[in-house]
Amino acid sequence: MIRIRALAVASEISPLIKTGGLADVAGALPAALLAEGVDTVTLVPGYPKVLAALREARSIHDFSEYFGGPARLLAAKSVGLDLFVLDAPHLYLREGGPYGSHDGVDYPDNAFRFAALARLASSIAQGMLQDYLPDVLHVHDWPAALAPAYLHYAEPGARRPPTVLTIHNIAFQGKFPKSVLGALGLPPESFAIDGVEFYGGVGFLKAGLQFADRITTVSPSYSAEILTPEFGMGLEGLLRARASDVIGILNGVDEEVWNPSRDSLIPVNYNQAWLPLRPRNKAALQQLFGLPLDSQALLIGVVSRLSWQKGLDLLLEALPEIKLFGVQLALLGAGDKALERGFLDAARVLPGQVGVKIGYDENAAHLVQAGADVFLVPSRFEPCGLTQLYALRYGAVPVVARVGGLQDTIIDANEMALKAGVATGFQFSPVTKDALIAALRRARCVFSDKPRWRHLQSNGMKTDVSWRNPARRYAQIFRQLIQARGET
Ligand code: ADP
Ligand code: GLC
Repeated sequence: MIRIRALAVASEISPLIKTGGLADVAGALPAALLAEGVDTVTLVPGYPKVLAALREARSIHDFSEYFGGPARLLAAKSVGLDLFVLDAPHLYLREGGPYGSHDGVDYPDNAFRFAALARLASSIAQGMLQDYLPDVLHVHDWPAALAPAYLHYAEPGARRPPTVLTIHNIAFQGKFPKSVLGALGLPPESFAIDGVEFYGGVGFLKAGLQFADRITTVSPSYSAEILTPEFGMGLEGLLRARASDVIGILNGVDEEVWNPSRDSLIPVNYNQAWLPLRPRNKAALQQLFGLPLDSQALLIGVVSRLSWQKGLDLLLEALPEIKLFGVQLALLGAGDKALERGFLDAARVLPGQVGVKIGYDENAAHLVQAGADVFLVPSRFEPCGLTQLYALRYGAVPVVARVGGLQDTIIDANEMALKAGVATGFQFSPVTKDALIAALRRARCVFSDKPRWRHLQSNGMKTDVSWRNPARRYAQIFRQLIQARGET
């Protein structure tokens, strides 16, 4: 098997810098691709947290001026990842997160911060580094999506390896005013309907959808949903025109990081055979969230960004009714300020039943998976969703909205599936408060039947949520594209 060099481009990568599932994917896919003959180097921005985590960093290219200041490209390793890091202090040396300040306001120069990354990817693809010529470019989400456009508008005869764009969330599109175009270094003719123009501005994701050779997204259901106005968020027309190039590949999970039998972030390790040990984690979770130590109460866990996408306003609305059937809730999340306040208020009004932690906390996230009976994901849309996959591995039974990747990964415990012994969780549809309550009632009912519940847990723990199959699919796509180039 001829090995392939893939240059991946991502604005976050776990465990160095993470705001959501994109980081988990960018951090785990390279190791899985290795086994498929693909060697990945990932290009990331030199945020302070990234620079601090580098090992064996060496400068391989200097720019006296790059998008408004001096910059250099570092080649480095960190926790098993091969990285290129764009060290550009004027773009990335900031107090806040990757995209904005800690209070959630986007940086005003995001167009340049991420165009710089994408342009560098395109330069490397064209041969900027003599001893590193990638065979394929794999870009993730809008912050990297301009790279295929830069390649497209490169001078005639330039080296142009094939490109794959993975959409993790079409709600984030990177749309900027027309006035940024000149400073991005794109030619005036690129401002066209079949170029980077998008509703009168410059659309980064739109440009990627226009020019990438293949478009993948993170579940089969989402790949169909985004072709419709309900989920396509204005990009469905372009996606429909490219429908034959749109492919859904489910995410996997990093089985080293998310493994209940070895997880060092939880009090008691366990596996399927040792499920009776799990309640000790439940007790630790109850304690951490200030809930009574009650082994019989159905403990619902949530770990989530708090945003409209995740549908947690429905849970908030449902709380007065849910409290009537004796459940507990442990919720870890951050984001929308009104939702944060709402859940904190609920914890005050319903002290023995609702425990809330506002903030980002990796340790607590693992404990929720290891201790909750049910893991709830009531999203209005969900490209893939990783937390329900972690829940499967940890024996927390997922209760999920029937959308996107949630629909593709959880087998609903209806009568037939229970009889066939294949159910792994509960789905509900439509995504409404009443349907959510009904699903939790169903879960409550099965929970009281211990052998049946144990069966659901073990089915989930047995489910293959590894990166093996997904990595094979990505590698196949890379190989097909490279081969097709060779034939032309
Ligand atoms: P999304 O990327 O849309 O937020 P995913 O389910 O794909 O949704 O991934 C979310 C990731 O972020 C998971 O790894 C989850 O554990 C983590 N996460 C979300 N919120 C928090 C939080 N408050 N504290 C710790 N981890 C969190
Ligand atoms: C996005 C999506 C989420 C997906 C993640 C990783 O953040 O919202 O559903 O799991 O990307 O692909």
